[in-house]
Parts: sequence; structure tokens; C-alpha cells
Amino acid sequence: MDKIGIAVLCSGGGTNLQAILGAAEAGLLPDGEIVLVVADSPSAYALTRAARYGIETAVFDRALLARGEREQRIAELLTERKIGLVVLAGFMTVLSAAFVKRFEGRIINVHPALIPSFCGVGMYGLHVHEAVLARGVKVTGATVHYVTEECDGGPIIAQKAVEVKAGDTPETLQKRVMREAEWVILPESVEAVCKKLRG
Ligand code: GAR
Repeated sequence: MDKIGIAVLCSGGGTNLQAILGAAEAGLLPDGEIVLVVADSPSAYALTRAARYGIETAVFDRALLARGEREQRIAELLTERKIGLVVLAGFMTVLSAAFVKRFEGRIINVHPALIPSFCGVGMYGLHVHEAVLARGVKVTGATVHYVTEECDGGPIIAQKAVEVKAGDTPETLQKRVMREAEWVILPESVEAVCKKLRG
């Protein structure tokens, strides 16, 4: 079977996208190929990162398109490009049940905490790290999981713990969680899922 065609959906900086691109460049993604990067904002820096690698990009602007319309157009493009795996890498829109059903078992997400802690509706980006610091936990981390219609509720693929340090701010903690956990387990999980899908 051909390599699994991967689409990465992003909203912002795209450092997780960069981690997957770097893994692919280093030969660590033998079972998949990143063929499309989708953003829901034209200013997402992830688009610049993708363009540098000559990867097709598409923008479905959340400021201009309602969620239903946006999802419909994204789904059509994913189908047209024969995408086998959808990776949510800092994609800040919760997908509808209908979208998730259409790509069942083929959507994964990276979350910047150890699910089931600090997850669910409203828990995204820096808010997660703010909540971690407010609660005073000493260990946090990241999770990669399959996406189901329950927000952050799908089966877990990989997790990695990260120490919370005295004096951390949400920003310093976010950076450590990305560097030590997200950028490690996301590319590994992408390859593991592609390998499994390839059979
Ligand atoms: C990452 O920390 C990712 O885990 C988080 O947003 C950041 C995106 O950074 N995603 C969520 O909070 C989703 N619930 P990036 O654009 O640099 O990859």
C-alpha cells in the first residue's frame, strides 16, 4: 500500500507541524507523507513553514466562514487529496460529530496536558498552562489521542510527563511542554498511526 497521505490542520505558530516536517526530513516518517496543511486563519505562521517545504496549503478563514461551511470545504479537500490521516496540531476549532464520523479513526490531536487532567472545552493553548499553575500540580505533560466527538475524550496514543518548575509562567511552561513532550510524541505517534493504517 502507498504511504498514508497526511493533512495537518493548524491555527497558529505551527511548531508541532515543524516537528513533523523535521521528522519526515530526518527519515523518521517512512509510512506517511505530509501532502497538505490547512489553516483556519490566513495569518497562521504554519502556512509559511509549509510553503518552505513546498507543501500545498489551504486557508478556510474562521473570520469569514461559519463552522459548518468551513468543515464542509475542509472535508471536500481532504477527500479530493485522498488524505488518510488528519493531524490536529494546534487547531483551535472543535470539530463537529459529523466531521469526526466522516474521518473516523483517522484524526489525531496533540493536547498540551496529561489527559484526563486539564482538558475539555475551553482548555487550549496557554489556558491549559495557566490552569496547571493555578492548581499547583508538579507534573504536567502532553497527550496525543484519537479524536472522537467528545472533546479530548478519544483513545490515548501516547503521553509524556514534564516537570513543573518553581517560578514557571504559563509561557515558560508551555515552551517546556512543547520541547520535551509535544515535539517528541507527536511525530512518533504520526508514524505509529500511519504504520498501523498501512497494515
Ligand atoms: C500546542 O501547545 C498544542 O498542544 C495546543 O496549541 C499549541 C499550538 O502550538 N493545542 C491545544 O491546546 C488544543 N487543545 P503550535 O501551533 O506551535 O503547534
